[in-house]
Amino acid sequence: MSTPEILYDFGTGRSDPSTFPTAALQAAAVKVIEEEAQALTEYPGGLGHPGLRRAMAQREGEREGVFINPDHIMLTNGSMQAVTLTAEALQENHGDTVLVEEFSYPGTLNAYRSLQLAMVGIKLDEGGMRIDHMEQTLAQLEQQGRRPKFIYAISTYQNPTGFNMPEQRRRDMISLAAQYGIPIIEDNCYADVHYEGKIEPAVFKLDDRPEHIYLGSLSKILAPGFRLGYVYARPPMLDKILARRHDAGSNYLAAAIAAEFYKNGISAHAGVTNPVLHKKRDLTLDGLSTELEDICTWSKPSGGLFVWLRMPDDVDRPKLYTLAQASGVNYLPGVSFHYANRNMPYLRLAFGHLTEAQIQQGIPILARCIRKARTSNEPRAFTTLFD
Ligand SMILES: Cc1ncc(COP(=O)(O)O)c(C=O)c1O
Repeated sequence: MSTPEILYDFGTGRSDPSTFPTAALQAAAVKVIEEEAQALTEYPGGLGHPGLRRAMAQREGEREGVFINPDHIMLTNGSMQAVTLTAEALQENHGDTVLVEEFSYPGTLNAYRSLQLAMVGIKLDEGGMRIDHMEQTLAQLEQQGRRPKFIYAISTYQNPTGFNMPEQRRRDMISLAAQYGIPIIEDNCYADVHYEGKIEPAVFKLDDRPEHIYLGSLSKILAPGFRLGYVYARPPMLDKILARRHDAGSNYLAAAIAAEFYKNGISAHAGVTNPVLHKKRDLTLDGLSTELEDICTWSKPSGGLFVWLRMPDDVDRPKLYTLAQASGVNYLPGVSFHYANRNMPYLRLAFGHLTEAQIQQGIPILARCIRKARTSNEPRAFTTLFD
Protein backbone atom coordinates (compact mmCIF):
# COMPACT_ATOMS: atom_id res chain seq x y z
CA MET A 1 0.00 0.00 0.00
CA SER A 2 1.45 3.40 -0.91
CA THR A 3 1.73 6.03 1.81
CA PRO A 4 -0.91 8.75 1.36
CA GLU A 5 0.34 12.23 0.54
CA ILE A 6 0.17 14.64 3.47
CA LEU A 7 -1.40 17.86 2.18
CA TYR A 8 -2.19 19.39 5.58
CA ASP A 9 0.77 18.96 7.87
CA PHE A 10 -0.13 20.20 11.35
CA GLY A 11 2.65 17.98 12.70
CA THR A 12 5.80 19.93 13.53
CA GLY A 13 6.39 23.33 15.10
CA ARG A 14 7.98 25.34 12.31
CA SER A 15 7.67 28.98 11.38
CA ASP A 16 6.24 30.38 8.16
CA PRO A 17 8.43 29.40 5.16
CA SER A 18 7.34 32.34 2.98
CA THR A 19 8.96 34.81 5.38
CA PHE A 20 12.34 33.06 5.29
CA PRO A 21 14.70 35.98 4.48
CA THR A 22 16.61 34.34 1.60
CA ALA A 23 18.16 37.46 0.04
CA ALA A 24 19.26 39.02 3.32
CA LEU A 25 20.84 35.75 4.45
CA GLN A 26 22.59 35.31 1.09
CA ALA A 27 24.10 38.78 1.42
CA ALA A 28 25.08 38.06 5.02
CA ALA A 29 26.72 34.77 3.99
CA VAL A 30 28.81 36.41 1.25
CA LYS A 31 29.95 39.11 3.66
CA VAL A 32 30.87 36.91 6.62
CA ILE A 33 32.64 34.21 4.61
CA GLU A 34 35.03 36.89 3.42
CA GLU A 35 35.32 38.86 6.64
CA GLU A 36 35.56 35.89 8.98
CA ALA A 37 37.60 33.54 6.79
CA GLN A 38 40.38 33.30 9.34
CA ALA A 39 38.06 32.29 12.19
CA LEU A 40 36.34 29.76 9.90
CA THR A 41 39.63 27.92 9.41
CA GLU A 42 39.74 27.21 13.15
CA TYR A 43 37.72 25.14 15.63
CA PRO A 44 35.34 27.49 17.42
CA GLY A 45 35.38 25.69 20.80
CA GLY A 46 33.92 27.11 24.01
CA LEU A 47 31.10 29.59 23.95
CA GLY A 48 30.92 30.19 20.19
CA HIS A 49 30.63 33.14 17.79
CA PRO A 50 30.95 36.39 19.80
CA GLY A 51 28.69 38.41 17.48
CA LEU A 52 25.79 35.99 17.80
CA ARG A 53 26.25 35.78 21.56
CA ARG A 54 26.03 39.59 21.68
CA ALA A 55 22.93 39.58 19.48
CA MET A 56 21.20 36.95 21.64
CA ALA A 57 22.21 38.76 24.86
CA GLN A 58 20.59 41.85 23.37
CA ARG A 59 17.48 39.86 22.38
CA GLU A 60 16.97 38.44 25.85
CA GLY A 61 18.03 41.60 27.67
CA GLU A 62 15.73 43.90 25.72
CA ARG A 63 12.70 41.67 26.12
CA GLU A 64 13.23 41.21 29.84
CA GLY A 65 14.63 44.66 30.65
CA VAL A 66 17.79 43.31 32.31
CA PHE A 67 21.46 43.20 31.34
CA ILE A 68 22.67 39.86 29.94
CA ASN A 69 26.39 39.27 29.74
CA PRO A 70 27.23 37.74 26.31
CA ASP A 71 30.03 35.79 28.02
CA HIS A 72 27.36 33.85 29.90
CA ILE A 73 25.80 32.63 26.66
CA MET A 74 27.01 29.40 25.10
CA LEU A 75 25.87 28.60 21.57
CA THR A 76 24.64 25.06 20.87
CA ASN A 77 23.51 22.88 18.00
CA GLY A 78 19.85 23.89 18.32
CA SER A 79 18.37 24.24 21.78
CA MET A 80 17.93 20.46 21.72
CA GLN A 81 21.66 20.09 22.39
CA ALA A 82 21.22 22.55 25.25
CA VAL A 83 18.37 20.41 26.67
CA THR A 84 20.62 17.35 26.74
CA LEU A 85 23.81 19.06 27.92
CA THR A 86 22.11 20.80 30.84
CA ALA A 87 20.39 17.61 31.98
CA GLU A 88 23.73 15.76 31.81
CA ALA A 89 25.39 18.51 33.81
CA LEU A 90 22.80 18.28 36.61
CA GLN A 91 22.36 14.50 36.61
CA GLU A 92 24.36 12.46 39.10
CA ASN A 93 22.94 8.97 38.61
CA HIS A 94 20.60 6.99 36.41
CA GLY A 95 17.16 7.15 37.96
CA ASP A 96 17.57 10.71 39.26
CA THR A 97 14.20 12.43 39.60
CA VAL A 98 13.26 15.53 37.58
CA LEU A 99 10.01 17.51 37.41
CA VAL A 100 8.42 18.19 34.02
CA GLU A 101 5.06 19.43 32.81
CA GLU A 102 2.56 16.57 32.50
CA PHE A 103 2.49 17.30 28.76
CA SER A 104 5.79 18.51 27.39
CA TYR A 105 8.01 18.72 24.32
CA PRO A 106 8.70 15.18 22.98
CA GLY A 107 12.34 16.00 22.12
CA THR A 108 13.04 16.72 25.78
CA LEU A 109 11.03 13.75 27.04
CA ASN A 110 12.95 11.42 24.72
CA ALA A 111 16.31 12.90 25.71
CA TYR A 112 15.48 12.50 29.41
CA ARG A 113 14.31 8.93 28.80
CA SER A 114 17.64 8.08 27.14
CA LEU A 115 19.49 9.60 30.07
CA GLN A 116 17.36 7.37 32.31
CA LEU A 117 16.02 10.27 34.33
CA ALA A 118 12.89 9.49 36.33
CA MET A 119 10.37 12.09 35.22
CA VAL A 120 7.54 13.17 37.46
CA GLY A 121 4.77 15.10 35.69
CA ILE A 122 3.18 18.22 37.16
CA LYS A 123 -0.46 18.77 36.26
CA LEU A 124 -1.33 21.65 33.94
CA ASP A 125 -4.16 24.11 33.72
CA GLU A 126 -4.67 27.24 31.61
CA GLY A 127 -1.80 28.96 33.50
CA GLY A 128 0.72 26.15 32.97
CA MET A 129 2.09 23.98 35.78
CA ARG A 130 -0.19 23.91 38.82
CA ILE A 131 1.78 25.11 41.81
CA ASP A 132 -0.49 23.28 44.29
CA HIS A 133 0.38 20.03 42.52
CA MET A 134 4.07 20.91 42.39
CA GLU A 135 4.05 21.64 46.11
CA GLN A 136 2.28 18.38 46.92
CA THR A 137 4.58 16.39 44.61
CA LEU A 138 7.75 17.88 46.11
CA ALA A 139 6.54 17.10 49.63
CA GLN A 140 5.71 13.49 48.68
CA LEU A 141 9.04 12.99 46.93
CA GLU A 142 10.87 14.43 49.93
CA GLN A 143 9.22 11.82 52.14
CA GLN A 144 10.57 9.15 49.80
CA GLY A 145 14.04 10.71 49.95
CA ARG A 146 13.82 11.82 46.32
CA ARG A 147 14.81 15.42 45.75
CA PRO A 148 14.51 16.37 42.04
CA LYS A 149 17.70 17.44 40.30
CA PHE A 150 15.82 20.17 38.41
CA ILE A 151 12.47 21.48 37.22
CA TYR A 152 12.14 21.67 33.43
CA ALA A 153 9.64 24.40 32.49
CA ILE A 154 8.36 25.72 29.17
CA SER A 155 6.48 28.54 30.84
CA THR A 156 5.90 30.76 27.81
CA TYR A 157 3.62 29.56 24.99
CA GLN A 158 4.12 26.06 26.22
CA ASN A 159 4.67 23.15 23.86
CA PRO A 160 2.16 21.51 23.31
CA THR A 161 -0.59 23.53 25.07
CA GLY A 162 0.35 27.10 24.08
CA PHE A 163 -0.30 28.30 27.65
CA ASN A 164 1.55 31.22 29.18
CA MET A 165 2.29 31.05 32.92
CA PRO A 166 1.24 34.27 34.70
CA GLU A 167 3.90 36.23 36.58
CA GLN A 168 2.63 35.38 40.08
CA ARG A 169 2.72 31.67 39.32
CA ARG A 170 6.29 32.05 38.03
CA ARG A 171 7.19 33.70 41.31
CA ASP A 172 5.52 30.87 43.25
CA MET A 173 7.43 28.27 41.23
CA ILE A 174 10.69 30.11 41.93
CA SER A 175 9.91 30.24 45.68
CA LEU A 176 9.17 26.52 45.78
CA ALA A 177 12.35 25.75 43.86
CA ALA A 178 14.32 27.91 46.33
CA GLN A 179 12.71 26.19 49.31
CA TYR A 180 13.99 22.82 48.09
CA GLY A 181 17.22 24.15 46.54
CA ILE A 182 16.27 22.94 43.04
CA PRO A 183 17.41 24.73 39.85
CA ILE A 184 14.89 25.59 37.14
CA ILE A 185 15.74 24.92 33.49
CA GLU A 186 13.57 27.36 31.60
CA ASP A 187 13.17 26.43 27.92
CA ASN A 188 12.00 29.59 26.22
CA CYS A 189 12.16 29.26 22.44
CA TYR A 190 8.71 30.78 21.78
CA ALA A 191 8.74 34.05 23.76
CA ASP A 192 9.43 36.20 20.70
CA VAL A 193 6.69 34.51 18.68
CA HIS A 194 4.26 36.86 20.34
CA TYR A 195 0.82 37.96 19.11
CA GLU A 196 -0.96 39.90 21.81
CA GLY A 197 -1.20 40.58 25.53
CA LYS A 198 1.37 40.80 28.29
CA ILE A 199 4.85 39.38 27.83
CA GLU A 200 5.45 37.36 31.00
CA PRO A 201 8.91 37.65 32.58
CA ALA A 202 11.55 34.95 32.30
CA VAL A 203 12.81 33.23 35.45
CA PHE A 204 16.18 35.02 35.19
CA LYS A 205 14.41 38.35 35.36
CA LEU A 206 12.51 37.41 38.53
CA ASP A 207 15.35 35.61 40.30
CA ASP A 208 19.02 36.23 39.67
CA ARG A 209 20.36 33.26 41.57
CA PRO A 210 23.00 31.61 39.34
CA GLU A 211 21.69 28.06 39.66
CA HIS A 212 18.85 28.62 37.19
CA ILE A 213 19.46 27.84 33.53
CA TYR A 214 17.83 29.38 30.49
CA LEU A 215 17.61 27.85 27.01
CA GLY A 216 17.02 29.83 23.83
CA SER A 217 16.83 29.07 20.13
CA LEU A 218 16.76 30.64 16.69
CA SER A 219 14.62 27.82 15.27
CA LYS A 220 11.28 29.50 15.88
CA ILE A 221 12.23 33.08 14.98
CA LEU A 222 14.45 32.26 11.98
CA ALA A 223 14.58 28.61 10.89
CA PRO A 224 15.34 25.22 12.47
CA GLY A 225 17.76 24.34 9.63
CA PHE A 226 20.31 26.73 11.12
CA ARG A 227 20.51 24.47 14.19
CA LEU A 228 21.32 27.40 16.43
CA GLY A 229 20.38 27.46 20.08
CA TYR A 230 22.00 28.58 23.30
CA VAL A 231 22.29 28.24 27.03
CA TYR A 232 22.30 31.31 29.26
CA ALA A 233 23.83 30.32 32.57
CA ARG A 234 26.08 32.04 35.05
CA PRO A 235 29.24 30.65 36.63
CA PRO A 236 29.74 28.23 38.27
CA MET A 237 26.75 26.58 36.53
CA LEU A 238 28.03 27.69 33.13
CA ASP A 239 31.39 25.96 33.73
CA LYS A 240 29.64 22.80 34.82
CA ILE A 241 27.69 22.73 31.54
CA LEU A 242 30.74 23.64 29.44
CA ALA A 243 32.62 20.76 31.03
CA ARG A 244 30.08 18.32 29.51
CA ARG A 245 30.76 19.57 26.04
CA HIS A 246 33.09 17.54 23.81
CA ASP A 247 32.11 18.61 20.28
CA ALA A 248 34.65 21.41 19.62
CA GLY A 249 31.90 24.02 19.50
CA SER A 250 28.86 24.84 17.38
CA ASN A 251 28.59 25.72 13.69
CA TYR A 252 30.52 28.97 13.34
CA LEU A 253 29.38 29.76 9.79
CA ALA A 254 25.68 29.46 10.63
CA ALA A 255 26.27 31.62 13.72
CA ALA A 256 28.20 34.25 11.74
CA ILE A 257 25.41 34.53 9.15
CA ALA A 258 22.72 34.82 11.84
CA ALA A 259 24.81 37.37 13.75
CA GLU A 260 25.10 39.54 10.65
CA PHE A 261 21.37 39.18 9.97
CA TYR A 262 20.48 40.15 13.55
CA LYS A 263 23.18 42.77 14.09
CA ASN A 264 20.52 45.46 14.66
CA GLY A 265 18.31 43.27 16.85
CA ILE A 266 15.59 40.70 16.16
CA SER A 267 12.58 43.00 16.11
CA ALA A 268 12.66 43.93 12.40
CA HIS A 269 12.32 40.30 11.28
CA ALA A 270 9.91 39.42 14.10
CA GLY A 271 7.79 42.33 12.86
CA VAL A 272 7.51 40.50 9.53
CA THR A 273 6.95 36.95 10.79
CA ASN A 274 4.65 37.47 13.79
CA PRO A 275 1.73 39.10 11.94
CA VAL A 276 1.78 36.25 9.40
CA LEU A 277 1.72 33.64 12.18
CA HIS A 278 -0.90 35.60 14.11
CA LYS A 279 -3.24 35.39 11.10
CA LYS A 280 -2.68 31.64 10.88
CA ARG A 281 -3.41 31.27 14.58
CA ASP A 282 -6.69 33.13 14.02
CA LEU A 283 -7.63 30.97 11.04
CA THR A 284 -6.92 27.83 13.06
CA LEU A 285 -9.09 29.03 15.96
CA ASP A 286 -11.87 30.18 13.60
CA GLY A 287 -11.86 26.83 11.83
CA LEU A 288 -12.08 24.95 15.10
CA SER A 289 -14.98 27.15 16.32
CA THR A 290 -16.93 26.54 13.14
CA GLU A 291 -16.25 22.82 12.98
CA LEU A 292 -15.86 21.44 16.48
CA GLU A 293 -17.45 23.76 19.06
CA ASP A 294 -20.10 21.18 20.00
CA ILE A 295 -17.71 18.33 20.82
CA CYS A 296 -14.19 19.65 21.54
CA THR A 297 -12.36 22.38 23.40
CA TRP A 298 -8.93 23.90 22.72
CA SER A 299 -6.36 26.45 23.85
CA LYS A 300 -6.29 30.02 22.52
CA PRO A 301 -2.58 30.85 22.69
CA SER A 302 -1.37 34.45 22.64
CA GLY A 303 1.93 33.37 21.11
CA GLY A 304 3.86 30.34 19.92
CA LEU A 305 2.97 27.82 17.26
CA PHE A 306 0.50 25.39 18.80
CA VAL A 307 -3.15 24.78 19.61
CA TRP A 308 -3.93 21.94 22.03
CA LEU A 309 -7.23 20.23 21.34
CA ARG A 310 -9.24 18.08 23.72
CA MET A 311 -11.50 15.51 22.09
CA PRO A 312 -14.38 13.46 23.49
CA ASP A 313 -13.30 10.29 25.30
CA ASP A 314 -15.12 8.12 22.80
CA VAL A 315 -12.84 9.04 19.89
CA ASP A 316 -11.05 5.87 18.81
CA ARG A 317 -7.59 7.45 18.69
CA PRO A 318 -5.76 4.92 16.49
CA LYS A 319 -8.71 5.00 14.08
CA LEU A 320 -8.62 8.80 14.00
CA TYR A 321 -4.93 8.81 13.17
CA THR A 322 -5.43 6.32 10.32
CA LEU A 323 -8.42 8.26 8.94
CA ALA A 324 -6.58 11.58 9.16
CA GLN A 325 -3.46 10.26 7.45
CA ALA A 326 -5.57 8.69 4.70
CA SER A 327 -7.26 12.09 4.22
CA GLY A 328 -3.89 13.88 3.97
CA VAL A 329 -3.93 15.42 7.47
CA ASN A 330 -1.03 15.07 9.87
CA TYR A 331 -0.99 16.06 13.56
CA LEU A 332 0.76 14.84 16.70
CA PRO A 333 -1.37 12.76 19.07
CA GLY A 334 -1.56 13.52 22.80
CA VAL A 335 0.42 10.42 23.75
CA SER A 336 3.61 11.89 22.18
CA PHE A 337 3.59 14.65 24.78
CA HIS A 338 2.71 12.77 27.94
CA TYR A 339 5.68 12.36 30.27
CA ALA A 340 4.70 8.76 30.98
CA ASN A 341 3.39 7.98 27.46
CA ARG A 342 -0.23 7.93 28.62
CA ASN A 343 -2.66 7.89 25.74
CA MET A 344 -5.03 10.79 26.41
CA PRO A 345 -7.77 12.29 24.18
CA TYR A 346 -5.75 15.26 22.95
CA LEU A 347 -3.95 16.31 19.82
CA ARG A 348 -1.61 19.18 18.94
CA LEU A 349 -2.04 21.34 15.88
CA ALA A 350 1.05 23.25 14.71
CA PHE A 351 -0.15 26.00 12.39
CA GLY A 352 3.04 27.91 11.47
CA HIS A 353 4.22 26.08 8.38
CA LEU A 354 0.95 25.61 6.46
CA THR A 355 -0.47 28.15 4.05
CA GLU A 356 -3.66 29.96 5.04
CA ALA A 357 -5.57 27.91 2.44
CA GLN A 358 -4.19 24.65 3.86
CA ILE A 359 -5.40 25.64 7.33
CA GLN A 360 -8.84 26.58 6.01
CA GLN A 361 -9.17 23.31 4.09
CA GLY A 362 -7.40 21.04 6.57
CA ILE A 363 -9.41 21.81 9.73
CA PRO A 364 -12.80 20.74 8.27
CA ILE A 365 -11.22 17.49 7.02
CA LEU A 366 -9.74 16.80 10.45
CA ALA A 367 -13.10 17.61 12.06
CA ARG A 368 -14.88 15.07 9.83
CA CYS A 369 -12.30 12.44 10.77
CA ILE A 370 -12.82 13.15 14.50
CA ARG A 371 -16.60 12.71 14.14
CA LYS A 372 -16.13 9.53 12.13
CA ALA A 373 -13.79 8.05 14.76
CA ARG A 374 -16.37 8.47 17.56
CA THR A 375 -18.69 5.79 18.85
CA SER A 376 -21.50 8.28 19.67
CA ASN A 377 -22.93 11.66 18.67
CA GLU A 378 -23.11 12.90 22.25
CA PRO A 379 -22.31 16.60 22.73
CA ARG A 380 -19.25 17.67 24.67
CA ALA A 381 -19.27 16.56 28.30
CA PHE A 382 -16.49 18.93 29.43
CA THR A 383 -15.92 22.67 29.33
CA THR A 384 -12.22 22.90 30.20
CA LEU A 385 -9.08 21.41 28.69
CA PHE A 386 -8.14 19.53 31.85
CA ASP A 387 -10.24 17.75 34.50
C1 LIG B 1 10.17 23.53 24.00
C2 LIG B 1 11.17 23.21 22.93
N1 LIG B 1 12.45 23.11 23.26
C3 LIG B 1 13.39 22.84 22.35
C4 LIG B 1 13.04 22.64 21.02
C5 LIG B 1 14.13 22.30 20.06
O1 LIG B 1 14.44 23.36 19.26
P1 LIG B 1 15.78 23.49 18.43
O2 LIG B 1 15.38 23.45 17.00
O3 LIG B 1 16.35 24.80 18.85
O4 LIG B 1 16.68 22.34 18.79
C6 LIG B 1 11.71 22.74 20.62
C7 LIG B 1 11.31 22.51 19.23
O5 LIG B 1 10.18 22.35 18.89
C8 LIG B 1 10.75 23.04 21.62
O6 LIG B 1 9.45 23.15 21.32
